[in-house]
Amino acid sequence: MTENEVLPPTIFVIFGITGDLSRRYLLPALAQIVKAGHVEDDFIILGVSRRQVDVESVIADDVKVLRPKTQLFQMDVDNPEDYKQLDTKISELRKDFGKQAQVIYYLVVPPAGVLPIIKNLGEAGLNKNHAKLLLEKPFGSDLESARQLITQTSKYFSEDQVYRIDHYLAKEMAQNITVFLGSNAMFRNIWNNRFIEKIEIDVLESIGIEGRGDFYEPTGALRDIVQSHGLQLAALVLMEPCSDIFDFEEIPRRRLAALSNLQPVRFDSSTAGVVRGQYADYKEEAGAPGSVTETFVHLKISSKDPRWEGVPITLTTGKKLNERLTEIRVHFKAAKNEKPNLLRLRVQPHEGIELGLWVKSPGYLRRLQKVPLEFSYQQHFDRLPNAYEQVLVDAMLGNQSLFASGGEILASWKILDPVIKQWQKDTSDLKIYKNGSSSKQVLDARV
Ligand code: BG6
Repeated sequence: MTENEVLPPTIFVIFGITGDLSRRYLLPALAQIVKAGHVEDDFIILGVSRRQVDVESVIADDVKVLRPKTQLFQMDVDNPEDYKQLDTKISELRKDFGKQAQVIYYLVVPPAGVLPIIKNLGEAGLNKNHAKLLLEKPFGSDLESARQLITQTSKYFSEDQVYRIDHYLAKEMAQNITVFLGSNAMFRNIWNNRFIEKIEIDVLESIGIEGRGDFYEPTGALRDIVQSHGLQLAALVLMEPCSDIFDFEEIPRRRLAALSNLQPVRFDSSTAGVVRGQYADYKEEAGAPGSVTETFVHLKISSKDPRWEGVPITLTTGKKLNERLTEIRVHFKAAKNEKPNLLRLRVQPHEGIELGLWVKSPGYLRRLQKVPLEFSYQQHFDRLPNAYEQVLVDAMLGNQSLFASGGEILASWKILDPVIKQWQKDTSDLKIYKNGSSSKQVLDARV
């Protein structure tokens, strides 16, 4: 999207506008889009709420630029009759615009509320007339429920109307992985098991559950991060680069192929292939005494793609750790007398790419030293768009490449299904770790 480009006429219907996710991610991103001048008078937010609320309380001062663009609509989302009134309201707004506007239904509601709303929208005919459905994860809670969710959704909305958000796909460095690998011949040619020893993917957070106990307790880190952000990062690194690096349309198909090649996790407790932990204050914060929900996961995956056979890939995520760090570390092979190189794709913070080189350190003694060869976004670019801004803009423009398809969702649940099943049977491996631990400390700790 160019600097002066304006988004198409849009009615943005938000179910759950009063919730935490809207406040933390969605409204600030919309505010930024409005401030940047990408929308005109034919853009309106219609916030759906059960309770009587006013615009001032829903749209906080820090996003007040949205107030003139917001209207609220009170309805009982479980009552099919209320959707007729919603239809009338949308028709009125369209008439005011004087042109055909798309309607984006954005569901920021607890998982159990998603399907009933989709059904009610569909039954009321609100799925027609340039309608799109924008959904937040979790997309199901296991393979079977994800399958049902996707099948039920498809009764009312076709796959090209559905936009499933995985905001990690829209992080600048995540988008850059495919471009960087596709456009730098040097890396493209060594991106396989002949040259790569192992790959480590970390999504580490220093924050805890931030008051989201109701969401987190039935979810846990495996569903919250691994199934979505973690496996999508793996897909971006493992996928076959597109011949045209800016052919973003092709990317979801390549991600799907990469995910489909990942083997279901082998759960073998004797090899400690899967580790889970919970931070010490979690139970109290979540108000869930006796909880066995994991806030830390580490697991190994492998691909059956001949290009990646024999390359171990580890995925580690956790909350309340000693650092906030999302990065992919690619370890290159080294022969006996060589030194191994390490490539770090830094998704956040300090977005960029770093290659560890070995050089002679200056001085009379002949010593080797590791130094970074570095590309840092901060040095070269002013501002990185927030991932939520990118997904909202793309949904409005109809670009689906940064969204997860139904096929990708199912492929990722398939990889994790054995873990979910095993964890249901036995919880004795859950480690309790001190807040502020490093991921290594959690891995090294005993149960
Ligand atoms: C969300 C998870 O998808 O991603 C949260 O539900 C997590 O638990 C968040 O904190 C992390 O996103 P970011 O962009 O802050 O790294």
